Amino acid sequence: MSQAGRLVVLVSGSGTNLQALLDAVADRSYGAAIVAVGADRDGIEGLARAERAGVPTFVEKLSSYGSRADWDTALAARIAAYKPDLVVAAGFMKILGAPTLESFPVLNTHPALLPSFPGAHGVRDAMAHGVKVTGCTVMLADAGVDTGPIVAQEAVRVFDGDDEHLLHERIKTVERGLLVDTVGRMVREGWTVTGRTVRLGSGGMKK
Ligand code: GRF
Repeated sequence: MSQAGRLVVLVSGSGTNLQALLDAVADRSYGAAIVAVGADRDGIEGLARAERAGVPTFVEKLSSYGSRADWDTALAARIAAYKPDLVVAAGFMKILGAPTLESFPVLNTHPALLPSFPGAHGVRDAMAHGVKVTGCTVMLADAGVDTGPIVAQEAVRVFDGDDEHLLHERIKTVERGLLVDTVGRMVREGWTVTGRTVRLGSGGMKK
């Protein structure tokens, strides 16, 4: 393995996806290192997980800036300082702006089978629709809400007794595995994007 791929992971909450990545990078053969964890708020378990793992953290709150554009610029600068090969939005609950999206490849994860049920309430919306199968999607981020090219997906069945929390927890178990798998393949094998089609295993990290 040559140099490990440099990951900056962005979080807004409990950070169980981040934890799965922290656990994965402990094995050198995984091929990646988490060089920083960023958040849009303080006091979250995601930041505590990074601190416990000895990974540098930063917080950029939207409310600290006069405009969204200023926040976008500040966040991109914080990320850039760590020279990432890949940014992973792992439960980061803000839309990333052009300064970040145009500077780095950004991977995002969503607890539904896109393009169905995008947005902040993917699990709730899928249940309200009465679907029998939902799942999770790992995609490259673009300027839209969960609209970027899909890298990987996995299905999860909906059971009669499910509520939003139960179903989300079951999805998250699958989502963590899918994210770890996908990030690992991307850093080790590279990827290409043709139109909306993402192919892994094409050598070299390509946007
Ligand atoms: C994940 O299901 C993610 O897709 C969604 O929020 C959840 C984050 O979980 N946007 P965690 O913070 O990684 O535990």
